Amino acid sequence: MSESKNITRRDAIKYIGATAIGTGLGLGSAAALNNMNSAFTNRKMKVLLVNGSPNKEGCTFTALSEIATTLNFNGIETEIFQVGKRPISGCIACGACSSEGRCFINDRVNEFLDIAGNYDGFVFGSPVHFAAMSGSMTSFMDRAFFCARASDIMAGRPAATIASCRRSGSTTTLDQLNKYPIHRGMPLVPSQYWPMVYGNRPEEVRQDSEGLQIMRTLAQNMAWMMQCIEAGRQAGIFYPEREPRVATNFIR
Ligand SMILES: Cc1cc2nc3c(=O)[nH]c(=O)nc-3n(C[C@H](O)[C@H](O)[C@H](O)COP(=O)(O)O)c2cc1C
Repeated sequence: MSESKNITRRDAIKYIGATAIGTGLGLGSAAALNNMNSAFTNRKMKVLLVNGSPNKEGCTFTALSEIATTLNFNGIETEIFQVGKRPISGCIACGACSSEGRCFINDRVNEFLDIAGNYDGFVFGSPVHFAAMSGSMTSFMDRAFFCARASDIMAGRPAATIASCRRSGSTTTLDQLNKYPIHRGMPLVPSQYWPMVYGNRPEEVRQDSEGLQIMRTLAQNMAWMMQCIEAGRQAGIFYPEREPRVATNFIR
């Protein structure tokens, strides 16, 4: 980051104008200038780590903590968001979120949506329950990401996913988890292997030295991606503006 090119506001406006003329697409100036403002703030970058386990400080938490420590080492602030033990309803398909950007059911999902815009990156972790994501994490992700379509608060921000299992089912769980960031335009963060840990208790996860190394590699890659995105923003490269959405259902 220290080597990234700092540009002046005048440079930025010149750049945006040149881009608009070059493409003939118009400025989209409000969004572009907002992004540009954040490049001038020198604020610390922040990652929100979502624990989809009912166990507040269990195995998933242990893996997320290893990621948080490595992110902190890279100068990135972290917070852990607990999906918690209380029941989380599935999506009732009412469609209210399309206009509100929030869910009709006021629970942890809305609490997450209220703060999500403050973070530059996300990690979504789940324990494996019956070779799949936990039930509450499935409901949480369905509703949070369906609501996020309206506000687009997470687009362009890197996301990582991790799974914790006793013995098997972690790759299917990761396949499930990965669907959400891909759908929302969030670049997926890679590691050196599938991002999973093994254990039934936190102390067992702490013995999974390969799993913990995979978590650290993932965190290093995430820090690198976030710094690249920030450096790009400072050089005038922004997340692309979307075309108006085309939705064709399979009835013609
Ligand atoms: C309802 C339930 C179903 C589970 N199903 C599986 C499973 O299919 N495969 C597996 O390896 N572990 C399974 N486990 C064990 C957990 O995935 C494992 O202990 C995990 O590391 C716990 O993470 P946590 O402490 O963050 O909750 C299951 C646990 C529960 C409570």
